[in-house]
Formats: sequence, C-alpha cells, structure tokens
Amino acid sequence: MNKKSLYINMPKKIYIRTFGCQMSLRDSEFVAGLLLDDGFTLANSIAGADIILFNSCSVRKHAEDRLISNISDLKLLKKKRPDIVIGLMGCTAQAYKDKILDRLPILDFSCGPGNESDIPKIIKDIMENRCGIVATDKINDKRPEIFPEYRQDRFRAYVSIGEGCNNFCSYCIVPYTRGRERFREIKDILKEVKDLAKRGFKEIMLLGQNVNSYMNPSRNLTAYSSKPTAKKSDFVRLLEALNAVKGIERIRFMTSHPKDASADLFKAMRDLEKVCEHLHLPLQAGSNRILKLMNRGYSAEKYLKLAGEYKKYVPEGSITTDIIVGFPSETREDFGNTVKMVEGVGFDGAYMFKYSPRPPAKSVKLKDDVGQKEKEDRLNILLNLQREISLNRNKLLNGKAVEVLVCDLHKKDNNVLTGRTRTNKVVVLGGSSDMISKFVNVKIESVTPHALRGRIV
Ligand code: 5AD
Ligand code: SF4
Repeated sequence: MNKKSLYINMPKKIYIRTFGCQMSLRDSEFVAGLLLDDGFTLANSIAGADIILFNSCSVRKHAEDRLISNISDLKLLKKKRPDIVIGLMGCTAQAYKDKILDRLPILDFSCGPGNESDIPKIIKDIMENRCGIVATDKINDKRPEIFPEYRQDRFRAYVSIGEGCNNFCSYCIVPYTRGRERFREIKDILKEVKDLAKRGFKEIMLLGQNVNSYMNPSRNLTAYSSKPTAKKSDFVRLLEALNAVKGIERIRFMTSHPKDASADLFKAMRDLEKVCEHLHLPLQAGSNRILKLMNRGYSAEKYLKLAGEYKKYVPEGSITTDIIVGFPSETREDFGNTVKMVEGVGFDGAYMFKYSPRPPAKSVKLKDDVGQKEKEDRLNILLNLQREISLNRNKLLNGKAVEVLVCDLHKKDNNVLTGRTRTNKVVVLGGSSDMISKFVNVKIESVTPHALRGRIV
C-alpha cells in the first residue's frame, strides 16, 4: 500500500514547537521530515494545525515551566477540537515518561528522543484508536540511518554525529534523557554530508553532547585519514574526512568538553580550511571545589591551559562558554574564582545560567542553598562583565575585513541583512535578499557586545 494512502480523510497539518538546544532543533526537523514523507503538511501556526508537537529541553527548569504553560494554554482548543493530536517529544518526555500524561491530560503522547522515528506510527495509532501512548523505551538505541529530505534551512544543516552522554556532570539531566553515548560511523556521517553538499548546502554544524569523545564505532579509521597517527583523535579524523567534501565550505561543531579536548583539535582548526575558528568550551565554574562537586573532570588551571593552547594555535579564533552560578554551596569566594576565570580567558561570548536542581541528576542530593536573590546578583555581575569583555573582543575587528555567510533578512528592516563570520559572530550589513546564502567580504565599521556592523567591500 502507498504510505500516503494511510492518511486519507485524516487530519494532515502538523505544527512543531521547539524549546531547546541545537540537538532538539535537529530532532524536530527530522520528525517534521518523517511526517512530510508520510503525507502530512506543515501548518504555519498552532491555530491551523491538526497535530501539535512540543519538543522540549529539560536541562533547566525555566524551559520546562514554559513548556508546561504552553501546553496548558491549549486546554480550550482541545475541548473545542478533541480530534487534534497533541504530543510531547524530546528530553522532557523521556524524563517524565507516563507521568507527564497525568500532569497534562490533554497530551495524547509522550515520546523520548530515542523513539522519535516511531512518531508517524504513534500519531496514526492515536488517530485511529484515540489512546494515550508513551514511547520512551529506546533511550539507549542507535537511531536508524534514515534521512528525510526536509531541512529547515537551504544552505546550513545540523548533522548529528552521535547522541547521549557518559559524563554525568552532577547537575545535568542529559545522561538520563538521551542515554549512554553512542556514535555514528564516519562513513554514514560522510554520506549524509555528501548528500547535503550535492543539494547545495554550504555549512554544516556537527552535533554531539561531547564531540571530543567521538569514536568511530567500527574503528576503521585509516580510510579517512591521509596520515594516521596515534595522536589524532577520531573526531579530528572525522573533521579531516568532512573537510574533503566538495561543496561544503564551513564546518562547525559543538559541544567540546575541556576534559577531552586537546591540541590535536586546535591544530586541525588551524590547518583544515573548512573548519571554522570557533570553539564552544563550557567552563561551568572557576572554583576547583565546585568543579569537583560538578564532576567535570578538570581544574580551573587545566581549563586555562587549554584555552591558552587554543589561542596559541588559532590566534584569531573565538571562544565561547557556558557558566552556572549558584551551584550548591558556592561561596562568594568560589564565585570570585569564576569571575577571575572569565576575566582571564577573555571569552567572546558566554551563556550563563542560575543553577536549578534537575532530578534525577546527582546534585539534587546537595542542598540548593544559594538564595534566588544571590544567584541573580551573581548572574548579573557576570553578565555585565561579559558584556564588557565581548565588546572589547569585538572592537579588535573594527576596520578589518571578514568573510561573512549571509543568513537572513534583518527582522526589522528588509534592506538589512544578518550573517555570520567564521568565528560565529553576528554581522549586520546592508543588502538585498538575493544575497542570502552567499559569502561576502565585509569591512567592520562599528561593534556592540553582540554584533558587528559593516559594509561589503
Ligand atoms: N542548572 C543550570 N544550568 C544547567 N545547565 C545544565 N544543567 C543545568 C542545571 N541543572 C547548563 C550548563 C550546560 C548548558 C547547556 O546548560 O551550563 O552547559
Ligand atoms: Fe550534561 Fe556534562 Fe554530558 Fe554536557 S558533558 S551533556 S553537561 S552530563
């Protein structure tokens, strides 16, 4: 039977709302692709949809609260139209499994990241039988190598190199929602990227919870490396293989882990012309005592040394980070060490968060004893400091010409474009929509902490 015929006379429009990281965005795109291949179409808004999916991150409590309130807002709609299907996918679904259906009875299903390939079937089952479905059993499974054609963008694509995490940082829920670390074969990643290149994609962003621990499962590496040496990590060999793909012009990756990143990666960033000079290297805290409680596996000194090495090999590169303030028992002195690290490294940008306990992560056993007001104060101190540092880092580019990939029209002005440098900085420039997806050279004329402004030269 033709697959499409399964859905004749059935609701067909889907809307997916994503709250989360790049990996969640890629998952939403993947599920949208599966559903499009099955004959569904995309709705522009929740109001026009027959199937509404929420894909939610559960890394921080704030995102989860927003999700719950967004789903609760649909009560009236579901009352009026009991035929619509409302589903939850992603990390929050995995974290709460069936419990989320008790908490939010308007949900028809809860599907963890590992079960997402089954979503078309789950939706069909619900439409036929109107039963609640919980699909969270494939948390540690390797995903099938299925690639629906659909991509949200025309020239930039996310490429997952693996999933899961074995690090168990004490504050982090990810090992419980995405399972144990498992990676895709280089040959499969290469195939996906070659296909993207053939379709005109120019930039790929490799995604993994800890890209530096990438290991080619079959251990067949020599075919992908011109000069294999014991010093090269599998991730560097993957970068070498992808660097040779014709048509791809920029390769990005995230996230790097300071305990596994090393000079071979920085040398590759220096030597492989397509690998962009941007390193996202989460610090999390600057106090060794807190880093230990976080189970991060490195000291502040080791981080500083690593960041110094990166700057040595890639002097014009950018470095960004993640920081948590107010981890249990963090004293003002501990926090002061984080401030010193932020000053010492000179990050181009930083994502900073107030600690929130995320069961079943281990840190829930520690008393969340830094008050809300104190967490906010610490966050503001860091945000203000980082704004100043980002501005100073950006000022170094004043008067220089940089290569920019034009990505979008400016939200507020159709004669203004936004793009990205290789170092992942946002650039605002004048121009028209036909320049989107093109590379241009831009002379930087002014800067703010968050963007560069310039004109094409
Ligand atoms: N509380 C606050 N921030 C957190 N992060 C992860 N878990 C928590 C938590 N429980 C932050 C870390 C991580 C980023 C993705 O989210 O900084 O790098
Ligand atoms: Fe979470 Fe740590 Fe794994 Fe990152 S490395 S996903 S912070 S457990």
